[in-house]
Amino acid sequence: MPRKSIGIIVNGVTGRMGYRQHLVRSLLAIREQGGLEVAGGTVLWPEPLLVGRNADRVRAIAERHGLERWTTSLDVALADPDLAVYFDAQVTSAREEALLAAFAAGKHVYTEKPTAGSLAGALRVAGAARDAKVVHGVVADKLFLPGLMKLRRLVDAGFFGRILSVRVDFGYWVFEGDWQPGQRPSWNYRAEDGGGIVLDMFPHWRYVLERTFAPVESVYSHAVTHIPRRWDENGEPYEATADDAAYAIVGLRGGIVVQIGCSWAVRVARRELVEFQVDGVLGSAVAGLRGCRVQSRATTPRPVWNPDVVSTEDFPAQWAEVPDNGEYDNGFKAQWELFLRHVHSGTPFPYDLLDGARGVQFAELALESAREGRRLTVPSLELP
Ligand SMILES: NC(=O)c1ccc[n+]([C@@H]2O[C@H](COP(=O)([O-])OP(=O)(O)OC[C@H]3O[C@@H](n4cnc5c(N)ncnc54)[C@H](O)[C@@H]3O)[C@@H](O)[C@H]2O)c1
Repeated sequence: MPRKSIGIIVNGVTGRMGYRQHLVRSLLAIREQGGLEVAGGTVLWPEPLLVGRNADRVRAIAERHGLERWTTSLDVALADPDLAVYFDAQVTSAREEALLAAFAAGKHVYTEKPTAGSLAGALRVAGAARDAKVVHGVVADKLFLPGLMKLRRLVDAGFFGRILSVRVDFGYWVFEGDWQPGQRPSWNYRAEDGGGIVLDMFPHWRYVLERTFAPVESVYSHAVTHIPRRWDENGEPYEATADDAAYAIVGLRGGIVVQIGCSWAVRVARRELVEFQVDGVLGSAVAGLRGCRVQSRATTPRPVWNPDVVSTEDFPAQWAEVPDNGEYDNGFKAQWELFLRHVHSGTPFPYDLLDGARGVQFAELALESAREGRRLTVPSLELP
């Protein structure tokens, strides 16, 4: 089978997402499986060029994985006509400038979310994407998780009947960094560095809600900083200026009410770090990252409120697990494969940079709602 190399600039490869999910579990995993077979019998072979600010760290990653190509200069990488794709997993605050440079260099562009730190920036990026006439896309990994794919299957099958409400319950305890190191980078907790749980998570909620249920129409939110002081990667204390929790009510078309609870300062009593409970007239489901369980109208028990007696019902046992009915690949890898297929065929990727801007718009409106203490309409977003 003919093998075709596809040069990919991987920027931010020393970071958590850039290294683990995108380089190791996606691009290198595609190589380990023998490449990606695309239409016409060709096998695409990703050839990453690693980009990072610290030469020692980038070189170490390249050597660890037997990769020859790395640089500390994005300009040098973008000037190389053999590299067709630019990918960005840098800190959020560095993204807009790099994406604009990649479009100016005529690259196909794939990027982590959020696509910029502000809606104005995300629209500049989406406009440049449209004008560059290249294939462009944003990571929408949650849609590729087994739990959410099963949920989508239930929606498509009409399992819920009329959907009434959705409850998104996301969060876990992120250590402050003093007596145990924090499990997330410290910039996540500094607004001035592009941090904050709303900018981090609301772009995800927008595409999950819209692609699974219905368009988002309104948002009312309350964003807070529960833990105002944290300790960074060097053990130094700093002021946490960004929101670390948000509580929102979101209206979807058709009257579906969504409650979002999103926090880096809660302890987990759920089965998974995120759960989506969907209640419909004909049935309900609770989906996590991997699992999804259901209770139908016909099997709904009849709880009776009586605090005077000890409850004997095992409520969690009253739900049935949705079967896998297939194998699920890593969600980031599955999306990389889809993106590379679109690059090969030159066709638009389904989650493009205008979608990316919609995610940033939702985050920005949620923050504005929290500042002003009122419910805001989410206007439809198109490029001028
Ligand atoms: N899709 C998801 O589920 C998901 C999950 C977590 C993070 N993210 C996104 O991925 C991006 C990276 O997040 P991460 O958690 O990997 O962060 P990280 O701090 O682990 O990595 C950030 C990377 O950016 C580089 N960088 C470039 N300019 C920098 C600067 N001025 N200051 C500091 N670092 C700089 C770092 O060297 C590093 O390689 C963010 O935009 C974040 O929103 C997405």
